Amino acid sequence: MSVHKEVKKITTNTLLKMKAAGEKISMITAYDFSFARLFDAAGIDVILVGDSASNVMAGHETTVPITLDQMIYHAQCVVRGIDRCLVVVDMPFGSYQSNSDIALASAIRIMKESGAHSIKLEGGAEVVESIRKIVSAGIPVMGHLGLTPQSIYKFGTYNVRAKEEAEAAQLKKDALLLQEAGCFALVLEKIPASLAREVSQSLAIPTIGIGAGADCDGQVLVMHDMLGINNTFRPRFLRQYLNLQESITGAVQQYIQDVKSSDFPSQAESY
Ligand code: KIV
Repeated sequence: MSVHKEVKKITTNTLLKMKAAGEKISMITAYDFSFARLFDAAGIDVILVGDSASNVMAGHETTVPITLDQMIYHAQCVVRGIDRCLVVVDMPFGSYQSNSDIALASAIRIMKESGAHSIKLEGGAEVVESIRKIVSAGIPVMGHLGLTPQSIYKFGTYNVRAKEEAEAAQLKKDALLLQEAGCFALVLEKIPASLAREVSQSLAIPTIGIGAGADCDGQVLVMHDMLGINNTFRPRFLRQYLNLQESITGAVQQYIQDVKSSDFPSQAESY
């Protein structure tokens, strides 16, 4: 008899069933063991090891510099912290764009070295061949359309995408292409809510929105944004659930004061 408690794991199939049942999907980013453990225990459906690690963990201005090795390191840390949720890992810029063989090799490295359950990559028609190859190798793929931050130097801004008819039409085509190529879900970032609704209704696979309105099949937020670790980033789509910047600053200031005044450690805190 097994001594391990039975845990109901979330799989890509679970997400498909959730969409079919009209149950919304919750996704949050994480980059380390401790936060992954908290989010998993809180009941999150999906953890995304986002290449936003480049911004919030490494302090880069964009997601462009983060490397495959660094993403694998973050994914390994997250995987050690979870019991039941699905872990998706972003393929970083440069690890899949050149050709589909390189894309497959990068995806295999992520899966083998991190123990994560799936990968995500940005783009539409231009990455479909790579997606087909990765899916054929048995690796679940999440797509990402709309504002794709790895293309920031092409876009020039982080403004809402696909407001114009031509870009919206291309996005709708790309969404169908990604579904046909075998993606199990699709992130829609910073596009008009009406377009996200139309795309979500046209697909059998779930859409996960960020700045894409309420009619996506799920929502994702970057943990540092929703926990208020950095109060300077306040886009309209962000709901901040905590003000950790204030709480942490207050706690550390109190600690400094206690050390300086010799209040800490007390006798009870000494051996
Ligand atoms: O890297 C990331 O955090 C993401 C989300 C914003 C979807 O791709």
